[in-house]
Amino acid sequence: MQLAGRKIVLGVTGSIAAYKAAHLCRLLKKEGAEVKVVMTTSASAFITPLTLSTLSANPVLIEMVKDDSTWNNHVELGLWAELMLIAPASANTIAKCAHGLCDNLLNAVYLSARCPVMIVPAMDHDMYLHPSTQQNIKELKTFGNLIVGPANGDLASGLTGEGRMEEPESIMQHIQNFFNHASQLKGKRVLVSAGPTHEHIDPVRYISNHSSGKMGFAIADELARRGAEVTLIAGPNNLSKPSHLHYIGVESAHDMHDACMKEFPKSDISIMSAAVADFTPEISANQKIKKAPGVNSIQLKDTVDILSEMGKAKKAKQLLVGFALETEDAIKHGMDKLQRKNLDLIVVNTLEDEGAGFGGDTNKITLIDKQKNITRFDLKSKTEVARDIVNEIIHLYNA
Ligand code: CTP
Repeated sequence: MQLAGRKIVLGVTGSIAAYKAAHLCRLLKKEGAEVKVVMTTSASAFITPLTLSTLSANPVLIEMVKDDSTWNNHVELGLWAELMLIAPASANTIAKCAHGLCDNLLNAVYLSARCPVMIVPAMDHDMYLHPSTQQNIKELKTFGNLIVGPANGDLASGLTGEGRMEEPESIMQHIQNFFNHASQLKGKRVLVSAGPTHEHIDPVRYISNHSSGKMGFAIADELARRGAEVTLIAGPNNLSKPSHLHYIGVESAHDMHDACMKEFPKSDISIMSAAVADFTPEISANQKIKKAPGVNSIQLKDTVDILSEMGKAKKAKQLLVGFALETEDAIKHGMDKLQRKNLDLIVVNTLEDEGAGFGGDTNKITLIDKQKNITRFDLKSKTEVARDIVNEIIHLYNA
């Protein structure tokens, strides 16, 4: 049994898909999990507590207060669980989770839970696509919550589209992957750099590049899912700050160098995905440089190559991964950087490939390791690319 002894709190909210929670509960029990169900009042209009208490072999909890003198201890439940699964998760519950509202037992358990949370949305297509729901789901991701689905298909409203709750069998697969993955990097400290740097010319101007930080953030998130203790050092970016990792925000290549070199000796694995500026102004003016005839050049000096410094200082047990964004001869330049900077692995992407590189939500990468093994991947979302990179890192680390 794949989930033998695993402690799972199953949260069920008010959605027509609540009937699927019965099957899900049964599958969890069949795989040996201990299940405690928490429902909202509106969920009990779709499926009876008796069905779920029979299937889970535990009382179903709905109210904060049991009777006049006792209450259902949400803190205890939150600490008991190894995974909190909210399936189906209505738009209302998702909004409450995103904003910390706590007007029922389920949301109190959510706020008290120290374990990972998996959220399985179920709602009408338009409700799912509403910017407010999309924003709330984005927010949940920054808390480290796993979002499963929704699927595309027929909806209870009669419409067809995204919003259908994932099928219980598919959710089970996600749960099994979650438990298999969660211990892969347990106890390992990982450093990730992300984003651009800003090199100040004066208080209002700077030199930078088009990096959004998305690739590095996705890698950091994936590493946390594998159980690693992640420090993410990021240059200026517009992404929501992840609250489930140790986040250090920096400005310039100099700041990034200081922050990275402080963390590097403590790190088992370091992944430098930041697009660090190679040059910085010789002098950063204290006051805005006024428009005047003759101001037509800025003296630049080299920045420190952080990755090279790490490559020189690297101890035998440390794994070092670099990135190479190229515009031509990507594999040749990537291999050269791998050797020159003493790396264990390099992630090569090229602006010659459509959908790869800065800014977008997709990337197309090639991995090259020290043995010169070259693995090419298709164009994928940055989340999937992060998964491929982390799989390879775990493979190399354990080799
Ligand atoms: N990098 C770094 N510090 C720098 C510049 C780059 O740590 N000052 C790291 C990046 O984080 C990335 C890798 O080095 O992992 C490759 O960066 P890139 O700019 O492509 O390589 P360079 O060595 O600067 O080579 P070039 O600009 O000539 O392509």
